[in-house]
Amino acid sequence: MTHPVAIHFRETDLEALAARKGQIAVPVDPSGKLSPGARRLDRLMRGGLKRAVAAEAFTKLKPGESLVLGWPAGLAAEAVVVLALPRRAAVAEARKAGAAVAKALGPDGALVLAESHPRAAELAFGLALRAYRFDYHTEEKKPFGAVDVMVANPEAVAAQAAPHAALAEGVFFTRDLVNEPANILTTDDFAARLAAMQELGLEVEILEEPDLEKLGMRALLGVGQGSESPSKVVVMQWNGGGDEAPFALVGKGVTFDTGGISIKPAAGMEEMTMDMGGAGVVAGVMRTLALRKAKANVVGLVGLVENMPDGRAQRPGDIVKSMKGDTIEVINTDAEGRLVLADVLWYAQDRFAPRAMINLATLTGAIIIALGHDNAGVFSNDDELSHDLLRAATAEGEGAWRMPLQPAYDSLIKSRLADIKNTGGRPAGSITAAAFLQKFVKPDVPWCHIDIAGVALPPTETTLAPKGATGWGVMTLDRLIRDRFEG
Ligand code: BES
Ligand code: MN
Ligand code: ZN
Repeated sequence: MTHPVAIHFRETDLEALAARKGQIAVPVDPSGKLSPGARRLDRLMRGGLKRAVAAEAFTKLKPGESLVLGWPAGLAAEAVVVLALPRRAAVAEARKAGAAVAKALGPDGALVLAESHPRAAELAFGLALRAYRFDYHTEEKKPFGAVDVMVANPEAVAAQAAPHAALAEGVFFTRDLVNEPANILTTDDFAARLAAMQELGLEVEILEEPDLEKLGMRALLGVGQGSESPSKVVVMQWNGGGDEAPFALVGKGVTFDTGGISIKPAAGMEEMTMDMGGAGVVAGVMRTLALRKAKANVVGLVGLVENMPDGRAQRPGDIVKSMKGDTIEVINTDAEGRLVLADVLWYAQDRFAPRAMINLATLTGAIIIALGHDNAGVFSNDDELSHDLLRAATAEGEGAWRMPLQPAYDSLIKSRLADIKNTGGRPAGSITAAAFLQKFVKPDVPWCHIDIAGVALPPTETTLAPKGATGWGVMTLDRLIRDRFEG
């Protein structure tokens, strides 16, 4: 997997500035007042930094934005990156400033002259998250050079930054999974990558088709029956919290979604390699929890299937029986995610009696129509849990927005032949999908469904991720677990 760039917090050594290669980044307060290190840098640059900071190109910058001075006189560095960053910057502003350094990071790495800046650790975290690369180009690219962050108190800042290292590993694990093509990330390969996390102290179990058959998971199995890749449910347990009931995370893991017999149009179908994004986030969170040895009991469950058209594939009109016992009329084989989740949600509650449950899924195109690519849609039966979730998302700078879930929508998924049908037509497409899932949630279990179809793989780069998978949700859920289950 892709690992975050090495970041070292060191004591400030201004003698090292002149000869440093790569980039030198320096936070400057909007007032233009320079830190001692910045003043030394300015002298080496023969006044170049002061001139830049006085110019409109700097004074018009918002906190977190930056200005690049290329090939500066008096320095060996290839660039000086001037970061507009107040001492009392918000977390998101500091991360954004760090990301600016990562964007131009090369084999010579970077030196960040953070000195006594209170957001040095957050700045470094933003840098780490943005310094991510994933591709199959055969032309070799040199790895990122190391990053040195010069600070007044290296031990204290390193201690602040320690949980960030576990988070960055989790986010990168999710991004790698989402970015992988479906011929590489088959259900077998996905399960093997999860099983490998046993090394980190996670308990990992793989339920194979005969096990799922015995459990009665016909809703999930129906989705995968047209694929050569065997369907699986993987259960990951992190027991760091004594004997309280676990918090459950459930993910949709459709390794490729052709739509099945209700096949999707060719244009854009290649993006359906990301339809395992919910499972990817669950996996990334579990990795982070294990790496930072979280003091909580959390169980992650993912339903891994491939939705393919075939002679054995499920047909529109088929009626399947879920593990819960409810019958489902499959109107559209492309509404497969909710079929997978129905059985995994039920299994999670049946086996673990969780104190709360959150599922993540790239569930509907309709959520992209509603919210675009800046917010995931949150549906919930519990105001307190959803409030805590939204607050965690805000704190981490990940967009999330509550959507309605009311009995009024249930009439849209009533079936003439079965207990429920798997689509409700075009109106309120994301809400009827959520209403479907709610049928498989026990009323006394606090639950949220997060539709991440718009945020898992947005069409452009974001502040903290290059174009491709974002890993949306790993930071939010890790924070939620910290604040709600570890406090
Ligand atoms: N995986 C898709 C949803 C999706 C769409 C994710 C675009 C990411 C980007 C899901 O399985 C699906 O096909 N949903 C259908 C449901 C419809 C048939 C009721 C949709 O959204 O069109
Ligand atoms: Mn689909
Ligand atoms: Zn899908």
